[in-house]
Amino acid sequence: MSIQGIDQELCSKCKICLKVCDRRYFHEDSSGNIVYENITNNCIFCGHCIAACPEDAIIRSFNWEDDVETYSEPIVSYEKTLQLLRMNRSTRNYKQKMVPKELIDKVFNAMRYAPSGGNARLWKYKVLSDPKKIEELGDIISRTMYRYWGFNSYEQAKKYFESMDRQNIFNKAPIVIILYYEAKAPNNTMYAVWGADTGVAITYGQLAAESLGLGTCWMNVLLGAISIKKEEILEIIGIKGLVLGAMTLGYPAVKYSRSPPRAPLDVEGLE
Ligand SMILES: Cc1cc2nc3c(=O)[nH]c(=O)nc-3n(C[C@H](O)[C@H](O)[C@H](O)COP(=O)(O)O)c2cc1C
Repeated sequence: MSIQGIDQELCSKCKICLKVCDRRYFHEDSSGNIVYENITNNCIFCGHCIAACPEDAIIRSFNWEDDVETYSEPIVSYEKTLQLLRMNRSTRNYKQKMVPKELIDKVFNAMRYAPSGGNARLWKYKVLSDPKKIEELGDIISRTMYRYWGFNSYEQAKKYFESMDRQNIFNKAPIVIILYYEAKAPNNTMYAVWGADTGVAITYGQLAAESLGLGTCWMNVLLGAISIKKEEILEIIGIKGLVLGAMTLGYPAVKYSRSPPRAPLDVEGLE
């Protein structure tokens, strides 16, 4: 994507683009026109100029579809938003029913709009839907991480999961989505930023899934297993790189009737 300038015929000179551009690349020139100049060649293509301009005067070029949508606020009330947030549960019991491709696409479409540090969006997605593959991956995680659930051995963990009809840590989910980077994080700070980025994307997907009647569960136990058996696990997944997030997706087999209680927050500075 690139911002190429401003359509002077459309521009009303409201100067909102000057305010919203994180890099301050818009200014008024000597003839009073508002112009875009990528001075430090460091535009992050956040699209705030496009989103804010009342006249849609920002000239841009994408190598993907221009999917800009116009809306007026508020779209959803705080009460409805909070209800969605409170009713979302981590799903650990799935119906043995595949999620139609169009619904999976909708979940991914929501993840597309997740914010990311520097608007970089460097992560990739790998989807597993072959039950044998998911079982194989879940099995190696159980072999590696059984102590995480308090079991003394892999056999004990396996017996337990099977007795609960959950097969393994993936709980018979029809879909597992893995978020990963092909590169190594250059330093610890970027590792944390990348982890936050994938976390936000998962959260977007999770909430979109909830609104579609689907269930999800974070599966970051996979990260723990990878830290111990990286080569074997990445080979099963069929990727190379740094895995920073995972979630299951499917139809929940349990219906929750109310939200669970949550501890109050520990917040300073609001007195
Ligand atoms: C970063 C993160 C990692 C998680 N990893 C796992 C996991 O590996 N396996 C799992 O069953 N649940 C996992 N969870 C789900 C939490 O256990 C769950 O959010 C918590 O128990 C609260 O339940 P709720 O999501 O239904 O409100 C994870 C959640 C988060 C936010």
